[in-house]
Amino acid sequence: MQLFDVYSLFDVTPVRAQGCRIWDDKGVEYLDLYGGHAVISIGHSHPHYLEALKSQVDKIGFYSNSVQNPLQKELAARLGRISGYEDYSLFLDNSGAESNENALKLASFATGRGKVIAFRKSFHGRTSGAVAVTDNPKIVSPFNANHKVSFCDLNDVEAVEKQLMKGDVAAVIIEGIQGCGGINIPDDEFMAQLRSLTQKYGTMLILDEVQSGYGRTGKFFAHQWAGIRPDIISMGKGIANGFPCGGVLISPEFKAVKGMLGTTFGGNYLAMAAALAVIDIMEEERLVENALEVGTFLKENMPSSPLVKDVRGRGLMLGIEFNCPVAEIRQKLLFEKHIFTGVAGTDMIRLLAPLCLSEAQATHFINEFKNVIQ
Ligand SMILES: Cc1ncc(COP(=O)(O)O)c(C=O)c1O
Repeated sequence: MQLFDVYSLFDVTPVRAQGCRIWDDKGVEYLDLYGGHAVISIGHSHPHYLEALKSQVDKIGFYSNSVQNPLQKELAARLGRISGYEDYSLFLDNSGAESNENALKLASFATGRGKVIAFRKSFHGRTSGAVAVTDNPKIVSPFNANHKVSFCDLNDVEAVEKQLMKGDVAAVIIEGIQGCGGINIPDDEFMAQLRSLTQKYGTMLILDEVQSGYGRTGKFFAHQWAGIRPDIISMGKGIANGFPCGGVLISPEFKAVKGMLGTTFGGNYLAMAAALAVIDIMEEERLVENALEVGTFLKENMPSSPLVKDVRGRGLMLGIEFNCPVAEIRQKLLFEKHIFTGVAGTDMIRLLAPLCLSEAQATHFINEFKNVIQ
């Protein structure tokens, strides 16, 4: 049997990783400014994280959501404290798309409505509802296209209100910062207006923090830069540093009903051990602060070039927009300079480094990047 061939692969085989460094099967060392697509939050192979997973698997690896699991309660309490959402509840699942699926379902249950407003250039995942609110027709099958979704331009408050006024909108879903769509930051004022308009029209505001959350932008969630509190926050990626895990933070206005949400694997012991170790390390090593400090350093010291149109983002969620395709630059960074980076679209290099990136590693990137583009 062969693999279903849906991914474009680089010819690199990582076999070992530590902090922000990766080694391939030929012993070549790479600097990781991609974090496995924003997943590696605390760095690769942190000893405390490894120990937490190893000791948990020695005790019990899995049972089900029909018995008590104190690790889930501990994670809810710790996450509430570190994020500033102690009064919210936590539902645990397995991925970013599943978190958005649960968020949309909750909003629809609570309002009794079926329509959703999303934004142009959004990405929310590939499952049925999540892909329907994603602005990329290429990945939406006819089966997914039956959801009731309207897309508005980011920051266009009038377009949003026009839809909300119809009174049939269950939710507005928005990324804290658009990732796949090209590091687009919603204006703080727009976020505040979205918050008050959704309240006015009885619509739920869902913040997709799957990529922009968990400390990446220098606050626990990117929307906290705008000082708003949404009704639902979806999470994934960095929550367990690569152990599959997702979750939804749910405001106290929602009433849980037995059976309304559920999953087999969500909240399992190993995911919880991983997620708790992530919070330990984030607190101990001040990684949210580090993301802001080193991210700001990177942004301020990015080499200028006539090829570079814009550098934007917050913390360690950065996009370098070129006025030409970047595929060759990314190839050079990887194969000549041994640095992993990401892209968004064809013209943007996207940096999503582990939150433990040091200033020395950022400087190394800046110097090598300069050599490649100048
Ligand atoms: C903002 C956002 N939401 C949702 C997802 C989907 O997450 P997952 O691939 O874990 O389902 C992603 C993945 O890139 C994302 O960036």
